[in-house]
Order: sequence, then structure tokens, then C-alpha cells
Amino acid sequence: TNMFTYDPGFTSTASCESKITFIDGDEGVLLHRGYPIEQLAEHGDFLEVCYLLLYGELPNAAQKADFDYRVTHHTMVHEQMSRFFTGFRRDAHPMAVMCGCVGALSAFYHDSTDITDPKQRMIASLRMIAKMPTIAAMAYKYHVGQPFVYPKNDLDYASNFLRMCFAVPCEEYVVNPVLARAMDRIFILHADHEQNASTSTVRLAGSSGANPFACIAAGIACLWGPAHGGANEAALTMLAEIGSVDRIPHFIAKAKDKNDPFRLMGFGHRVYKNYDPRAKIMQKTTHEVLGELGVKDDPLLEVAMELERIALSDEYFIEKKLYPNIDFYSGITLKAMGFPTEMFTVLFALARTVGWIAQWNEMIEDPQQRIGRPRQLYVGAPTRDYVPVSKR
Ligand code: CMC
Repeated sequence: TNMFTYDPGFTSTASCESKITFIDGDEGVLLHRGYPIEQLAEHGDFLEVCYLLLYGELPNAAQKADFDYRVTHHTMVHEQMSRFFTGFRRDAHPMAVMCGCVGALSAFYHDSTDITDPKQRMIASLRMIAKMPTIAAMAYKYHVGQPFVYPKNDLDYASNFLRMCFAVPCEEYVVNPVLARAMDRIFILHADHEQNASTSTVRLAGSSGANPFACIAAGIACLWGPAHGGANEAALTMLAEIGSVDRIPHFIAKAKDKNDPFRLMGFGHRVYKNYDPRAKIMQKTTHEVLGELGVKDDPLLEVAMELERIALSDEYFIEKKLYPNIDFYSGITLKAMGFPTEMFTVLFALARTVGWIAQWNEMIEDPQQRIGRPRQLYVGAPTRDYVPVSKR
């Protein structure tokens, strides 16, 4: 008998209690541990936000220095990891490489997989926050056919990442502080977003007692989809396909057509029925980066701004409360910074790792949490007898 609540897409089911992130979708509010995202993005740095998400409070100066030091000293990956990369086809999508390599971490760092030990859990958490930029940069270098660049630990988190991506041997690489700040802000904006699909995946995987590296690999796999983290890549591809302002009405009409599966990528959100607060900050960062790089009249930005203007005044989008989300502007920024579209979701995964791991820790510490085991409404065939193949 069907005695369960049917809630496809979990639109009305709370799967946990959480103290980490608060979203008011109607007002467009996003808080981490009570702090508005606007203030964190304006005044904080990414590692400070990591500390906040993990420990619940902003660090004081000594705690911050200690945390930065500890993260910095886990940035190297085992040298054998580099051989993992070379096992992939050179045209492999970097997200495929990420799924494999992050899953493989549990084989390399087995000494931090006892989830009953809080110390091991914290080491695993720091390891993942520290190693994700290194692995993401290696995935990028492999993708473009350049040698890996090792971490340089006197640089801040974002600068170190940019250097691992864009430095080449025999050439001096100087990190542009405006781009480093933008990178850091992009990381902050993606750090956590309560019980989204990938975070719920991490929690569900972790609810069976699986080790944290394997759980994060599961989160990466879920994030890859175009309805979720893959939307930044899909949004930029869409803007390029639209190509010029005069073609926008055609695509708006397609998005509104019930018989056309096309959707405006980077628009709409399950929870936000108002402007995504992250998208506002992202838009500002986009202008800063393009200004710094001297990009004038970027055709993609022009299409994006006009598309946003038209959509926000269109009845269909107003009625359905579809606003630009974070993925709408992040792609233009990342492209201007030199990242190919294939890397966009990888950068999202890098930044979201802290959210995943903070949520995973919270779940492990929560005595109410049991293995996640949804039920179903069975609508298949009733009992019937097996028929031998000769009689079918
Ligand atoms: N373009 C055109 N129509 C849309 C769009 C869109 N981007 N998004 C939703 N709709 C329509 C949809 O057709 C539906 O219409 P109707 O009620 O007439 O059937 C209505 O709006 C509600 O959509 P839904 O699919 O039921 O809403 P959902 O909460 O299940 O999906 C979403 C949310 C984000 C998956 C969806 O809005 C979407 O596919 N957006 C494009 C992809 C995207 O930008 N994803 C990034 C999300 S934010 C960051 C992240 O999670 O990574």
C-alpha cells in the first residue's frame, strides 16, 4: 500500500536541521551562520568564510593565522596522484577528471577516513579545502597540455590557485591582485547554499558512513549537471549561441514555448523567487574584472545585460518569478580571466567543497541523523508468474 508522502523533487521536505546557511528565497536573502553574503563577499576572504562555515564563528586574528597556516600545509597532493591524471584521455572533460581524482583521495589519505574520530574528520576537511585548488589546477593543466605547477604557499588561496593555473615554466608569473580578489569573491559566493542537490547528495552518501573523500566525489558528480553547477558552462554556451542582441527575442520566445525544451540558462531557481543576491555581487565583479582587463564592449556581456533587461520585463518571467541566478554572470567573468568553459563547473566544485564538508560534519555530529533512505510509491506490475523464454 502507498502510505508515504509523495514529494518529487523534495519541494516540501526538510531532510535535516542545520545551523550553517539560511536562505529567504522571497526576499533574496542569503546568510552564512547569520552573516549576510554581501558583507562576507565585500569584507571577508574565502578562508575566513571556510572557517566560519566549519566552526560556526568568524576567526579572531590568531585563529585566522593558524587556520591559513594549516590549510597551506596541506596544499600538496601525493606525487603519485599526478599519474592518475595521465591515465585520462587528453580531451577528457575536467569534471570527469575531478570525479575520479577526488574519489581517489580516499586511497591516498586513508589515515583521515575514520569518521568517528573528530580529529580525523577535521584533517580530512582541511585536506580537501587545501588540495581542491591543486587538483583543479592540475585538471586544467592536463586539459591544456601544460606541465603541472606546484603550490606556492606564501601566496593567498586565490592567488596560489591562479598561479597554479596560469604560470608556465621559464616565465615569471605575477598574480594580478584585482583578478585574485575577484577569484576569491567567486569562491565566497559559491561556498555553501544549504540543502541543494549536490549537498544533499553528499549528506546522503555520508549517511551510510562512507568516507568524506568519497562523499565529496559524489557531490562533484551531482554538481556536474546543467540544472545545477553545470549551468555556468551552459549559460556561457547559450550567450555565445545567441551571439548578438538582435537574436535575443528569438531565444526568449523559445524559452517561453511550452513545446520547446529550451530554457534560459542562468535563470530561475528552486528557492529564489527574487533576484539571487549572489548574482548581484557577481555582476559587479564581472564589471570589475572586465574593467581591469580592459575588455571593452564584450559581445557576451552585452547580450547578457540585454537578455536580463528583456527577461525581467517580460510577463512570462515575471509571473514565474524567474530571475538571473549566480551562474548567469560567473561564466563571463571566468572566461575573461582566461578559463575555458569546461573549467567553470570545476571552479564551482572547488569553492563548494567547504560547504559540502561543513554540512557533512554537521550531519555526522547530529545524533538525530540516520541513514538516508527515502521510500517510494510503487506503481509497477502486480505479482505475476515467470514465463519461460520459449513461451514469451
Ligand atoms: N527558462 C524558461 N523557463 C523556466 C526556466 C528557465 N530558465 N526555469 C524555470 N522555468 C519555468 C518552467 O518551465 C516551469 O514552467 P511551468 O510551471 O509552466 O511548467 C516553471 O518555470 C517552474 O520551473 P521548474 O523546473 O518546475 O522549477 P524547479 O524549481 O524544478 O527548477 C531550476 C529550478 C534552477 C532547475 C530551473 O529554473 C532551471 O532549469 N534553470 C536553468 C538552469 C540553471 O540556471 N540552473 C542553475 C541554478 S542556480 C545555481 C546552481 O544550483 O548551480
